[in-house]
Amino acid sequence: QELQLNLEQIEKGGYEHFMLKEIYEQPNAILDTFRGRLLAKEAIIKMAGIEDNMKKFLNADRIIIVACGTSWHAGLVSEYIFEDLARIPVEVEYASEFRYRNPIITEKDIVIAISQSGETADTLAAIKLAKSKGAFVFGVCNVVGSSIARESDAGAYTHAGPEIGVASTKAFTTQITVLTLMALRLARAKGTISSSDFRHHLIELELIPDKVKKALESDAYVNSVADIYKDAKNCLYLGRGFNFPVALEGALKLKEISYIHAEGYPAAEMKHGPIALIDEQMPVIVIATKKGHYEKVVSNIQEIKSRKGKIIGIVTEGDESVKNLADHVIEVPESSEFLTPLLTTIPLQLLSYHIAVKLGKNVDQPRNLAKSVTVE
Ligand code: G6P
Repeated sequence: QELQLNLEQIEKGGYEHFMLKEIYEQPNAILDTFRGRLLAKEAIIKMAGIEDNMKKFLNADRIIIVACGTSWHAGLVSEYIFEDLARIPVEVEYASEFRYRNPIITEKDIVIAISQSGETADTLAAIKLAKSKGAFVFGVCNVVGSSIARESDAGAYTHAGPEIGVASTKAFTTQITVLTLMALRLARAKGTISSSDFRHHLIELELIPDKVKKALESDAYVNSVADIYKDAKNCLYLGRGFNFPVALEGALKLKEISYIHAEGYPAAEMKHGPIALIDEQMPVIVIATKKGHYEKVVSNIQEIKSRKGKIIGIVTEGDESVKNLADHVIEVPESSEFLTPLLTTIPLQLLSYHIAVKLGKNVDQPRNLAKSVTVE
């Protein structure tokens, strides 16, 4: 028993929980995802799974992404990135809905399955269905040799290393990293971005691990914010564009490990319902980084403030406007807009983590949840 405990202590590498360790591993996990693929100086992205099937990707009418949970959120982020950079239409589907919907799939479709474990039953069934209809299936998995990886026609591993905490953290950011590399590679091949933009994007991408490190420096401040809001009964998360899915993921993290009810919404949809919930008890976490429809988000923040909601802004370093309106602001480094999800996610992971710890919840193994859901 004691030996077991000690082993676990060693595995946690000095962190109190696997989740915290995995949050802190993200700069290195993203670097591992880049390794051998991102050659920024040479302005090259090398991904065997794409190169070997380039014709298929270039001829595809659309990409359908199937996934569950956090992986589905990574799919949503990449929908914005693929469409913006590579101009390929993308649909993101819950694997469980897709497989039972009699979906329209043709041989010109590419189905990308995103799965940390590579064992999620619904995602596995979805790709089997897609394959039976002639689609080309590309797997984005973390676990090497997993069922989804084996069932796929081609794929790219995330190389995040083992993720033990049930609430997914480094798997999410490395999934987004792989999908961003794919979108950039395809954008270059299709000629939807110029070679100078491509070069610029690669340099920006290469800077992300250091910026994630910087974002992690907000930890102590996020911890103090967690102290203030740990007893909230509800929380609202808002974001727009590339950061709308990050709002969904932020809300999911809080629900999963603290059992506080939370909802993520596209900021502009607030007026169609959630605004009715806002009063002085309601913490609203708003992702308001520069460039990403910033002015619009600021006006959403004003609407929340006039209804006395408590505002926690996730902002770009040096921001002034949101600082003047919000109750708290958490800064992340500046970067290209399409890369901001990799940074804005960090304080949201930390916020859920600290709230759950303060509430005495089992952070690494929340009630009723499993790391990988291998049954329907
Ligand atoms: C479970 C886990 C989530 C995960 C989801 C999809 O619900 O608790 O953290 O996002 O499954 O898992 P996958 O392994 O397919 O990414």
